[in-house]
Amino acid sequence: MAHEIQYMFKSKRFVWIMAAVFGVVIMFQYFEFPYGGVVSSLLTAGSPQPPSSSPASLTPPTMMANTIVSAPLKTSLNKPINVSAPNLDHNFKEQSEVSGQKPFVSADNSSTKVIPTVRKSHMRPLRDTVTIPVMHDNSLTKMIPTVRKSHMRPLRDTVTIPMMHNILLHNRASVHSMKPRWSSMVDQELLYAKSQIENAGVNDMITNDDPSIYRNISRFKSSYKLMEKTLKVYIYKEGEKPIFHQPEPVLSGIYASEGWFMRNIQESRHFVTKNPKKAHLFYIPFSSRILELNLYVPGSHSKRKLVQYLKNYIDMIAGRYNFWNRTGGSDHFVVACHDWATYETRKSMDSCIRALCNSDVNKEYFELGKDVSLPETLVRSSKNPLRELGGKPPSQRSVLAFFAGRMHGNLRPILLKHWENKDPDMKIFGKLQKNNTSYVEYMKSSKYCICAKGYEVNSPRVVEAIFHECVPVIISDNFVPPFFEILNWESFSVFVQEKDIPNLKNILLAISYKRYRVMQARVKKVQKHFLWHVKPVKYDVFHMILHSIWYNRVFRVNPII
Ligand SMILES: *[C@@H]1O[C@H](CO)[C@@H](O)[C@H](O)[C@H]1NC(C)=O
Ligand SMILES: *[C@@H]1O[C@H](CO)[C@@H](O)[C@H](O)[C@H]1NC(C)=O
Ligand SMILES: *[C@@H]1O[C@H](CO)[C@@H](O)[C@H](O)[C@H]1NC(C)=O
Ligand SMILES: *[C@@H]1O[C@H](CO)[C@@H](O)[C@H](O)[C@H]1NC(C)=O
Ligand SMILES: *[C@@H]1O[C@H](CO)[C@@H](O)[C@H](O)[C@H]1NC(C)=O
Ligand SMILES: *[C@@H]1O[C@H](CO)[C@@H](O)[C@H](O)[C@H]1NC(C)=O
Repeated sequence: MAHEIQYMFKSKRFVWIMAAVFGVVIMFQYFEFPYGGVVSSLLTAGSPQPPSSSPASLTPPTMMANTIVSAPLKTSLNKPINVSAPNLDHNFKEQSEVSGQKPFVSADNSSTKVIPTVRKSHMRPLRDTVTIPVMHDNSLTKMIPTVRKSHMRPLRDTVTIPMMHNILLHNRASVHSMKPRWSSMVDQELLYAKSQIENAGVNDMITNDDPSIYRNISRFKSSYKLMEKTLKVYIYKEGEKPIFHQPEPVLSGIYASEGWFMRNIQESRHFVTKNPKKAHLFYIPFSSRILELNLYVPGSHSKRKLVQYLKNYIDMIAGRYNFWNRTGGSDHFVVACHDWATYETRKSMDSCIRALCNSDVNKEYFELGKDVSLPETLVRSSKNPLRELGGKPPSQRSVLAFFAGRMHGNLRPILLKHWENKDPDMKIFGKLQKNNTSYVEYMKSSKYCICAKGYEVNSPRVVEAIFHECVPVIISDNFVPPFFEILNWESFSVFVQEKDIPNLKNILLAISYKRYRVMQARVKKVQKHFLWHVKPVKYDVFHMILHSIWYNRVFRVNPII
């Protein structure tokens, strides 16, 4: 034994190994790797693959150095997850603000160990087509090649909105769906739509809109019009109720948006086609909320059954029809608001367009340009979703800032520590009494409504604030706000970094009253995009969700020429 060790010390190989290990450790420290447990797990996991050169040289020229460098955030997924790894606390978060169930950590290792190491630590955008190896003999979906993402991943913990926009533009320019296995008319239609949108003129603009709330109103209007003219969606008939095609979709509560979307699309004569050959998009009609209610065993700390259930479904439709096969699933989509949905769909529906409430640019492969940030809308009355709409005019909004909520996650306790009962202008509370009507009253009479993340980045408060015409103040680093590809969020809301909570009041006071009035007026303009209607109307939230999915499909089209 001693002899061997001595030999090891002599050998060059040992020196190399030591150098490599040291290099990896330094690299992770240098990058402020967000997950503390990763270094130790990497060291025990075998062969980590350090990036081959320095980050600065790999940063694309259009990006700011050391701000947007893709980090090997997902490396830890290559092996069984250590259940105490901090990122898991987020993956399995709160049930709901309403039910208030505890988050859990999963001991489920089967769902994490099979991901091949295709994309770890790529430091620059690469376009790599990778065939996922077969993991289970009868798993159809695993044999289907998909275009793995080469999207930029942020390095630092905080990705600002302009940085997200850069990532989006990058992904648009360089990441496409898989080339179809055989061509279809729909590809040509999408290609045509794409060229129309890219050449949209200013005259497509409608005069009474406020262009400042959009990234590019001409593009949006043009794309929206083409969607109305062109888009056909096929809804799979397969799938057992109530998880699929729920007879009574959940239309109230904080997960309402998936239920409303499902109902509206199923009732849409305009967009739905019975002929899948004509479809530009295929809808996988499941409810992440009902999946959880039906299959999650409370206290089990395992979502394996939920993940498997969805995987079986995809295997089934991929085996029964060839639509999935044609594009590797990239023209299929899901709309899911439960926080767990991001995790549940991560593998089996990785190639699909996923509209998700839990849209964290740093996690779970949420891919800007492919996936869509779904608004989390708290619907209080499913019969009358517009109940209590609106709020006081700006001059009568006497409270500077309002927040109330449970102490979910790490951020809210910090918010309360700094601002609860500290300042009469700052109405920052914990959970209000159930029968306390002042929650809505505060939203209606405050200038700014604080939307602080809970266990996950998303919060129903963002849409609630817009609903009550209160300027949203989003404190949730890395949260991709809804319809990010369309809306210019910074024109009507305020983003405060989590680290700046102590400075919150000064940040708000630094916004002039004039500027506040402008933002508040824009909130009122953008409001129509966040409203549910029993019968959908143009530009409402149903159409906006469908539009963002359409838009991403159009810009990822990759036809056979
Ligand atoms: C996870 O890591 C912690 C320390 O990083 C260690 O104490 C624990 O035993 C590990 N758990 C497993 C299941 O590997
Ligand atoms: C996790 O993996 C270990 C070892 O590979 C295995 O014994 C255990 O049954 C697995 N747990 C689950 C929940 O699959
Ligand atoms: C908006 O998009 C159109 C069409 O793609 C383009 O011609 C125009 O320059 C864009 N406008 C701005 C302000 O970026
Ligand atoms: C997909 O289609 C191709 C070509 O028709 C065929 O070779 C392949 O076996 C199919 N794959 C699956 C998983 O059905
Ligand atoms: C609100 O609920 C509390 C108990 O939770 C009760 O004591 C109080 O009377 C109720 N107030 C109103 C106005 O109903
Ligand atoms: C409602 O909540 C506010 C803020 O915490 C508190 O001041 C007020 O007393 C509460 N009213 C009731 C009826 O609970």
